[in-house]
Amino acid sequence: MRVLSGIQPTGRFHWGNYFGAIRQYIDLQTAEQAYYFIANLHALTTIRDKDLLNELTYDAALDLLALGLDPDQASLFVQSDVPEISELTWVLMTGTPMGLLERCHAYKEKKEKGISADAGLFTYPVLMAADILGYDSNIVPVGQDQVQHIEVARDIAKSFNHHFGECFVLPEAKLLDASAKVPGTDGEKMSKSYDNTIEIFGNEKAIKKKIMRIATDSRPMEDSKEPEGDHLYQLYSLFASTEQRQELAAIYRAGGFGYGDVKKKIAEASAEYFRPAWEKRTTLEADPDYVRDVLNAGAQQARTKCREVLDRVQKATGLVR
Ligand code: ADP
Ligand code: TRP
Repeated sequence: MRVLSGIQPTGRFHWGNYFGAIRQYIDLQTAEQAYYFIANLHALTTIRDKDLLNELTYDAALDLLALGLDPDQASLFVQSDVPEISELTWVLMTGTPMGLLERCHAYKEKKEKGISADAGLFTYPVLMAADILGYDSNIVPVGQDQVQHIEVARDIAKSFNHHFGECFVLPEAKLLDASAKVPGTDGEKMSKSYDNTIEIFGNEKAIKKKIMRIATDSRPMEDSKEPEGDHLYQLYSLFASTEQRQELAAIYRAGGFGYGDVKKKIAEASAEYFRPAWEKRTTLEADPDYVRDVLNAGAQQARTKCREVLDRVQKATGLVR
């Protein structure tokens, strides 16, 4: 069983990324074979600043390792370190109907808003299909927004297999736990697009400041409140034990508490939760050679597998004599 997923280095990872995706990737790294990569080629469709892309790519590698991605269990690599993927993308592109891509949401939404899209955004799902098919991936853990792209990869694979003979493994999406939707500082879904994120790594004081500024409702303190729908309660629940959660739920129901105290609890619980990762990151920062070796080894493993798939494709299509 081969598991594969990619994550774009388009910003520093936040709590939503961790609970919604990264933690689940790490849980799946014990699969027979797991490939995780930093999708810098995809990020190039939005980031056009070389230092920023470089920095975010490296940060993403440090963050993933600090959070528990174990290079002895999973291959961790940078997407562009496997150039075979770009060749495979071209081959797949020649068999991808325009209509299939026109239906894909990222392009469709831009077009509907009247924003001009480039060929990179339009063909983004084909690059993603190459990422998936290039490693014979069976299972692709993704959020709901990416499920359509897995379907595209399956369609492309089926059509290719039909024309050229069995070449690709048909991948399946594994939907990440949707209940892990993490609210942001404004109570809406946490996302870097909404400027409401709390980063996993960074200056501890700055993180605490963000937590203390989380928006709250203005109901009187004496009122009894239902904890379930409250975003502060939801945030605390990410880090708390069952007993701690029940204790806070009882405080909500009794009323007479201050939101400031809940925020302090969130700050304490989150710092306790992430402190081992913070410490590990500091150690990794001091050892860039180690990080480079991990990424090189990951790329080597990924290239070996992708080369094998690309050989099959070149033979099947008549690209090698
Ligand atoms: P952003 O919304 O900040 O741009 P991305 O789209 O890059 O984040 O998301 C990367 C991964 O993190 C995806 O798998 C996505 O489902 C997950 N994710 C992002 N924000 C949240 C959130 N608030 N709750 C749960 N999962 C999230
Ligand atoms: N497009 C994905 C995202 O934005 C990232 C990604 C690129 C990916 N290639 C992939 C995810 C292959 C899974 C498999 O989240």
